[in-house]
Amino acid sequence: MTQDELKKAVARAALAYLVDGEIVGVGTGSTANCFIDELARIQHRIRGAVASSEASRQRLEGHGIPVFDLDKVDAIPVYVDGADEINAALQMIKGGGGALTREKIVAAVAAKFVCIADGSKLVAVLGQFPLPVEVIPMALGHVRRQLAAIGGGTPVLREGFVTDNGNLIVDVKGLSITDATALEARINQIVGVVSNGLFAQRPADVCLLATANGVQTLTAD
Ligand code: 5RP
Repeated sequence: MTQDELKKAVARAALAYLVDGEIVGVGTGSTANCFIDELARIQHRIRGAVASSEASRQRLEGHGIPVFDLDKVDAIPVYVDGADEINAALQMIKGGGGALTREKIVAAVAAKFVCIADGSKLVAVLGQFPLPVEVIPMALGHVRRQLAAIGGGTPVLREGFVTDNGNLIVDVKGLSITDATALEARINQIVGVVSNGLFAQRPADVCLLATANGVQTLTAD
């Protein structure tokens, strides 16, 4: 199977987690796009969606799926999103598409986070994928210096990229993350950081992993 076919397979499998008549939280990225396309086929089953990015909002609306602002919604039973890396504890690095902050907000509201990924995303140790950090523009120099001082990785500005929130992304390359929860909290404490792409305090509840042998369902160790 191609990677595209794997993404489609795992997106289809996520439909089983939808709660009929309710809102679904929708992530961002190529795997989430496959999920949006699957949602379009069964949209009569759901009330609508909350999107984690403007790109996902546009794709949902393009299919005629009603998109609600998060603050107009009382509950999100399920949030479905991809990941750049995921470990056996279902902690993730996300934000390759730069939508980490809104993804983190929607995930925080959701009762259940279903991560959809192809097998290449499962890793023993997080950090080979550069860790995205969303930064208020005026704090860029300060945040880069502070990230460098943490040690173990090289902060690099994502050139020419502005988030949906009007901020910048710094990608920290070359990390080997042994305590994701502690590092997530530590980076969040740097003044000028909006959020970082570690999803450890709020990991996924379920990971649907597409492999050549089918879709596997992982829960945390
Ligand atoms: C976007 C994300 C995505 O979930 C992550 O980058 C995975 O994307 P893809 O499904 O295209 O591999 O966090 O901010």
